Amino acid sequence: MKRRAIVAANWKMNGGLELVNTMSAGLKDLELAENVDVIICPSALYLAAFDCNNMNAHIHLGAQNVSEHDSGAFTGEISTTMLQELSVGFAIIGHSERRSIYKESSEQAALKVKAALAAGITPILCIGESETERAEDQTEAVLSAQLQPVIDVIGIEKFSEVVVAYEPVWAIGTGKTASPEMAQATHLFIRQFLAKANSDIANKVPLLYGGSVNAANCEELFAQADIDGGLIGGASLKVDEFKVICSTAKGS
Ligand code: PGA
Repeated sequence: MKRRAIVAANWKMNGGLELVNTMSAGLKDLELAENVDVIICPSALYLAAFDCNNMNAHIHLGAQNVSEHDSGAFTGEISTTMLQELSVGFAIIGHSERRSIYKESSEQAALKVKAALAAGITPILCIGESETERAEDQTEAVLSAQLQPVIDVIGIEKFSEVVVAYEPVWAIGTGKTASPEMAQATHLFIRQFLAKANSDIANKVPLLYGGSVNAANCEELFAQADIDGGLIGGASLKVDEFKVICSTAKGS
């Protein structure tokens, strides 16, 4: 099965105009393997400032979050229409920090995925278990419970337009990456879970790994059969390191 590889940069609440400028200048000579897309998700405030002109056409912009509502009295929120106006083609949805700090539920993530798809924005749906959940052997139950509401709301067919990022919470920003074998086993579980609803669609969904991915460990992770790229936090703030990660990705 041919799947595109994706490397997405999640800057979180880091980086200002200086990083926007150094990163966009630095990416101008980025060479990518065929079948690879790179998505830069700066703070929404900088989406308009990030200059994607004269870059590889496979470099795109993404938001770190999006509202499930179309418009209205939702102070501080950003709608899909606003993202469309800035030609933002992707949106991270349900990141573990949104779930834990801002109490976003899987049901809300499902509505956000639906809203993004309706606007032609590709959702990067994040799922992942905590350290305690893994220790208690709850990983598969947690991932299933995070995925099922999305299947229920959008239907499995629509997953052909969804990217899923598996990010074990204990690996995010901690330097503790899942081993390639553990990440692969979990990705395989996710694909098989989706395959129970539709195996053709499951085979097409790009599954990204996230959690302390860096230039030193990305090659082994990306070499796994069910790992189709990465969602990169800390290492995406360093131009040279991020470029190494992007160049390591290969579509299958
Ligand atoms: P990290 O973050 O690479 O800094 O661990 C990944 C993420 O939260 O998306």
